[in-house]
Amino acid sequence: MSYQTLLTSLEDGIFTITINRPDKLNAINKTVMEELGLAVAEIYNNPAIRSAIITGAGPKAFVAGADITEFMGLSKEEGMAIAKKGHDIFFSIERSPKPIVAAINGFALGGGCELALSCHFMIAAENAKFGQPEVNLGLIPGYGGTQRLVQLVGKNRAMELLMSGRTVNAQEALTMGIVNEVVPQENLLARVKEILTLINSKAPIALTKVIDCVNNFDHSKRGYDYEVAQFGECFATEDMKEGVNAFLEKRKADFKGK
Ligand code: COA
Repeated sequence: MSYQTLLTSLEDGIFTITINRPDKLNAINKTVMEELGLAVAEIYNNPAIRSAIITGAGPKAFVAGADITEFMGLSKEEGMAIAKKGHDIFFSIERSPKPIVAAINGFALGGGCELALSCHFMIAAENAKFGQPEVNLGLIPGYGGTQRLVQLVGKNRAMELLMSGRTVNAQEALTMGIVNEVVPQENLLARVKEILTLINSKAPIALTKVIDCVNNFDHSKRGYDYEVAQFGECFATEDMKEGVNAFLEKRKADFKGK
């Protein structure tokens, strides 16, 4: 299958999905989200695929977030619909019966960090940068970040990252347990393929059951539904309009708490 915003390739049972909007730092617009859903369906349905990699095109970004230009003028209900759609697709990544590894080749911010968090684990290049900067836009993460980040780094660190919106580099992400390994950028895909080649030699049904059992460690979906509602609420605030406008106008936001 061919895509407008993704590049895909299948080699030795490893399916590589590359989000391909490098001039926009691979920001997830509607088409990217739609096509990610279709590419994940390929992982589920194509028996030649044993495992997959998700990465970003170009040397600078994995994914710099949801496409902010699509947020302007959206209602609360439309905000909730965006979050819900993202949740469905990111759940399909998390619950994939075949391993999916994120290869982080630069900025993984906002929805990009959340996409990486929905993969089974992450390997990062030395230039990788992680963060949930939604508070700068008068928003909160809407693709599972408030839930999966807590699971990965614990409450204290998640609170600080989500409230400050600050970016952490690859070494700090390694210390926090966000990523499993940090490698030079030129070795990133080769290293992930090496790890997946080992994993692909294991029993497929056992791998599916590992993924399923790990995901069932905490089966509560309540927090995710709550996040959808709260993300939608942000769209009814003046602060969110100000934050998005300020980004588009390349200026600092002036938040009023309204
Ligand atoms: N949505 C839409 N466009 C985005 C984007 C996003 N999340 N992130 C980057 N872009 C676009 C920029 O607007 C710019 O487009 P332009 O060339 O048409 O002006 C292009 O990608 C390159 O980004 P730029 O900001 O010039 O690169 P930089 O190296 O100066 O800064 C970042 C990189 C990641 C720090 C900065 O792009 C940024 O803060 N992005 C937004 C991150 C964010 O808030 N994500 C969460 C969204 S919910």
